[in-house]
Formats: sequence, C-alpha cells, structure tokens
Amino acid sequence: MSLEGRSLVTMDDLSNEEIEGVFSLADEMSESMTGQSGVCQGKIMASLFFEPSTRTRLSFEAAMLRLGGRVITAVDISATSLAKGESIADMARVVGSYADIIVIRHPWEGAAKVVADYAGVPVINAGDGGHEHPTQTLLDLYTIRKERGTIKGLKIALWGDLKYGRTLHSLACALARFGASILFRPAPGLEMPEHVVRKLTMDYGGELRKCEAVDQTGKGGVFSLDAIYVTPSTPHQLAMMPDISIQVELEKGVDAIYVTRFQKERHAQANGGDDIKKAYPVVDKKLLKEKTFKQTLVMHPLPRIDELAHELDADPRSMYFKQAARGVPVRMALISLLLGARKVDIPEVKEPISRRKAGYPVYDRGFGIRCQNRSCVSVNEEKYIKAEFRIASRQPLTLMCVYCEHEIFPKYVASSEWHEGTLESKRYHSADSHWGRKIRLENLIVFDSESEARSRGFKPGKNIHG
Ligand code: NCD
Repeated sequence: MSLEGRSLVTMDDLSNEEIEGVFSLADEMSESMTGQSGVCQGKIMASLFFEPSTRTRLSFEAAMLRLGGRVITAVDISATSLAKGESIADMARVVGSYADIIVIRHPWEGAAKVVADYAGVPVINAGDGGHEHPTQTLLDLYTIRKERGTIKGLKIALWGDLKYGRTLHSLACALARFGASILFRPAPGLEMPEHVVRKLTMDYGGELRKCEAVDQTGKGGVFSLDAIYVTPSTPHQLAMMPDISIQVELEKGVDAIYVTRFQKERHAQANGGDDIKKAYPVVDKKLLKEKTFKQTLVMHPLPRIDELAHELDADPRSMYFKQAARGVPVRMALISLLLGARKVDIPEVKEPISRRKAGYPVYDRGFGIRCQNRSCVSVNEEKYIKAEFRIASRQPLTLMCVYCEHEIFPKYVASSEWHEGTLESKRYHSADSHWGRKIRLENLIVFDSESEARSRGFKPGKNIHG
C-alpha cells in the first residue's frame, strides 16, 4: 500500500484497510523507535499549531525527528502573517513550497481542507475547530486494538462534551466503520451533533436507539443515553438489529469509556459554563466499581480537567498515558507513508470511504446559500472560498458543507432551466412542494431565504404565499 502524496483531513480519507496498514507499520516502528532515523532523512515537516497543544504537536515533531527528518514550526497566529490578514490559502501555498509535509491545527472547521487544497504537499489535520482530529483517532483505535485485539463488536461509551469534542467526532465515525457499538453519555446540552449522528446512521449503516439509563455517577436519577448499533457487513443499509435494551447491554459490561473535557474554548456560555460543569459526568473510582465497568478501558485524549479523577492513574484499566505515548509510533507510520518513504503490504485496498461521500451530488453554484456554522472556514474566508455542499438528501432537502460537514436544510428552491427562459416564469418554490421536488438535481438552485431568491430575480411560485 502506498499513501504517497495523500492528505489526512478527516477519517473518511482512509479506508479501514489503509488504517490497518498504518497500524502494522506503527507496530514495526514501535519495536525500534531509534532505528528509523534514515526513513525521512532530508525531508522537512512544517508544524503549524494555531491553537494550544502539547501532546499532538510534540508527538508529531518527535515522530519526524525520529524518522530523521527536520521540523519548522509556527505556533501562534499572532506571530504569523495570518494576523496581518493573510488568507489560509496563501499561507498554505507558501508553506507548501518550504516543507514536504504540513501538520496544521486551526480553530476554524474545515481549515485543514483549505490547506490541503492549496499546499501541493500532503497535509495532516491535527484538529480543525470542533470538527475532526483524525490522528488522535488513529492512536485511540490503535490502543483499543492493542488492548482488546479487535474493535469489531466492542461496546464503547463516549463521555462528556460530545458537541464540541472533535476527537469524539472522528472516533465515533471510525468505531462505526470498524463495527463497534457506541453509547453516548453527553453532559446535559452537549449531545452529539445531528450531522455526526446522520453520518453514523446514513453513511455507516448504524441504528440509533434512545433510552433513559440509571445514573451510576452517584448523583441519582436517570440520564438520557443514546446508542448507535452497527452491522459492519452491510455498511450501506440500515442495520437490522434485534430489540436490544441499552440498560441490559450496559449491565453486560462496557469495553471502553472515552472521556473528554468540557471544550470551554468553543462555548460562549455567559457564566463560563458553570451550570454545565456542575452536571458534567465524572469518571472516578466510585463509578468504576460498578459491574458495568469491571473490565472497562478508561481512555481520554488529554488534557483532563475535573472529569477524570487522578485517583484512577494507577488503575490498570487507565489507558490515557499509554494512548499519548502511542501517538509517536502511529504518527511516525503516517508521516512516512504520506511522504512515500515507506509502503506496507495490506490485503486488498477497497475504495477509500471518502469516495462514497463523493457519491453525493455536488452543489457549488456559489450563491443563494452559505454555511450556517460561524466557525466554518468557508464563512470566515469567503473572499476566495466558494461555498460548496454535497446534497445528502432530497427529502428533506439536506445540504452538507464540504468544509465543516454541518448540514443546512434550505427552504426555497428554483430551477436553472426556467420555462423558456422568460423572467415571468422564473419562479422559486418551497423545497418540499411538488414543484420543488420535481426540479432535476443538475438544475437545482437553493436559497436560504425568500429575499435571497427575490434578489436574484426570482418571483414566488404558486405555492408561496405573500
Ligand atoms: C484534544 C484536542 O486538542 O482536541 N487534545 C489532544 O489533541 N490530545 C482534546 C482536548 O483538547 O480536549
């Protein structure tokens, strides 16, 4: 398998087989961490970290140094030309001419995709806002597989800030693809975003179950717990699951809890999120005494705040420092593969998952609609980024931003092929009306609002009142 020249922006950029290939090379590298210094000799990695980082940046840099390569680094937006108003695209072009590979962390969702689109060298997403953090997921999966031998069929609980925890968004998708069942235990109000749940169910064939579970954190009462069950052998179809009770499943035991901190930098809470923090589920000795957690691996991407008690550090179930340590061989494997410095043998490479996503038709007219996510790079750099979506569903009409993957549900549509081209018949319609649904995909024009449609010269169709 060669991954030469490829980028890793989201987990969809690697097929399951390719991920296995990264793991087998990581195994080889971890056996001789000091014996790899010839692998990337002469190569330069640019490490651009425009959000705080300890583990991810240092493990990437350690990985490149262990491979014999060199590192150039920028860690503060205010010390770069981005602070002067330079676009991400211009920065990417320039850095791509200095380095052979770029690792980027940026607060805007989709920023890594823009860097990958413009740099001309492989780009690795080290976290783009609340969107994804695929290399953290690689080392998380690697850890689970090392400890449990497999991922398929495991039951894994995702704990804490499911809304903004980018590590969880990447991990949930990967777990579903590898056939694990996922239990969501969000802090109140921090549930898994709709677009991620939709991906898990529609793209990876998971089935969502909702239930109320008994609170085992000692705070009493019940909490809502959602679960995704997947049938990995039929990834394109909704899984046909027998009637499983989540409570019964919980009692049978959970294989891993993946805990995350409250992502305070992505919240705009008036009181600094004090209410959320009070109700934030904590993982401690008391919780782990429950039968459910007897054999449970306790995982965390770190840094931890109060959600994971220090008293667990010596517990053999605690994996978080092992996870962090495994970041180096996993990243060594990835860097050397993307640079084409190493290849690995894997059974049969199936289509990368992103090709499936690419199966959704593109909507890129560049007017009428824009991404609603204020943290999306397409909104923040709209001078040169044309809004682009995939049409994920016709009914209800659902467009997914290609940068941040947030969805929008436009209410109004028109056809580019209006009747005989006369202005009189240039009408817009409700997306869910008979007229709206009849428009062929290639002719579809969508609008955020009626005023947007009118400003483009369209008049209300028969089904629009007022
Ligand atoms: C995570 C991140 O940056 O998203 N940290 C990491 O990379 N290990 C998790 C977090 O900051 O909570």
